[in-house]
Amino acid sequence: MAGEIGEFQHIRIEREDGITWLILNRPEKRNATHPPLHFEMQRAITALETDPDTGVLILTGAGDSFCAGQDLKEYFRALDADPVGRARARKASHDWTWERLWLFPRPTIAMVNGYCFGNAFTPLVACDFAIAAEDAVFGLSEINWGIFPGGLVSRVVADVLSYRDALYYILTGRPFDGRKAAELRLVTCAVPRAELRAETVKLARELLGKNPYALRAAKEAYKLCRLMDYAQAYNYLAAKSAELRGADPEHGREQGIRQFIDEKRYRPGFESYQRG
Ligand code: ACO
Repeated sequence: MAGEIGEFQHIRIEREDGITWLILNRPEKRNATHPPLHFEMQRAITALETDPDTGVLILTGAGDSFCAGQDLKEYFRALDADPVGRARARKASHDWTWERLWLFPRPTIAMVNGYCFGNAFTPLVACDFAIAAEDAVFGLSEINWGIFPGGLVSRVVADVLSYRDALYYILTGRPFDGRKAAELRLVTCAVPRAELRAETVKLARELLGKNPYALRAAKEAYKLCRLMDYAQAYNYLAAKSAELRGADPEHGREQGIRQFIDEKRYRPGFESYQRG
């Protein structure tokens, strides 16, 4: 199936019953992101946006690292004298780590299997969920390289960390583990490493059981209305609801109400109304 999306050298795509695993695949460099990887990720995510076999997207890293941030040698130093190459790599990096991932049409989960440094915070925050191994190591290490969290990192960190916690980690560069990341609410939860994959797949399967049109509208509505004032949000959410009712071929709203009120065969709980 991955062949339909294309051939890749620095990333891997694996499929499993509606779940698409998008894997940064430079384990020998701890999945640090260099320009060729950014270009491949941009191409892959763009193709997956309209892929009918992708119900949930899981982003993770090969080996024992999620992503060691931008490649200090090939993304930074090698492009110092190449402004055009720098601009292209920077655009591709921003495009996949934020623009395409943040509003990816299906639910997204970051499975943080190890090191997560620097620019890796952007795709981490862009994903709807993040599940970390308890012993994963996170760090806004930029200050230790004589720089600060650029790209979009300072901005996305402001979305998820408190003012005090953000400044503490940005200015000290101190690392922290997956347990702490869960305590800070940087990730959804942290689990023992041995359970990481199973817990991630469990969440993905739960999401696969829900109406995909409602899921898409729900994440778009929440993520976009956060940036609006109340009058704009109220108006936008009304329009979004109408859009969903018109666009949903399952007619989920009507089905759910009918099954509960008329047919009395669906009791609201953790599961969706009976689909299909
Ligand atoms: N950029 C370029 N190369 C990297 C990076 C990176 N961000 N991270 C790791 N590598 C390379 C190393 O240079 C090394 O290459 P080599 O085998 O050719 O010498 C290889 O990956 C393995 O790295 P080690 O340091 O040997 O692996 P170890 O498991 O001991 O440590 C760790 C992993 C903790 C991730 C360490 O490599 C590290 O601190 N990397 C930098 C992390 C960082 O601060 N990233 C933020 C960059 S700034 C930004 O993103 C904006």
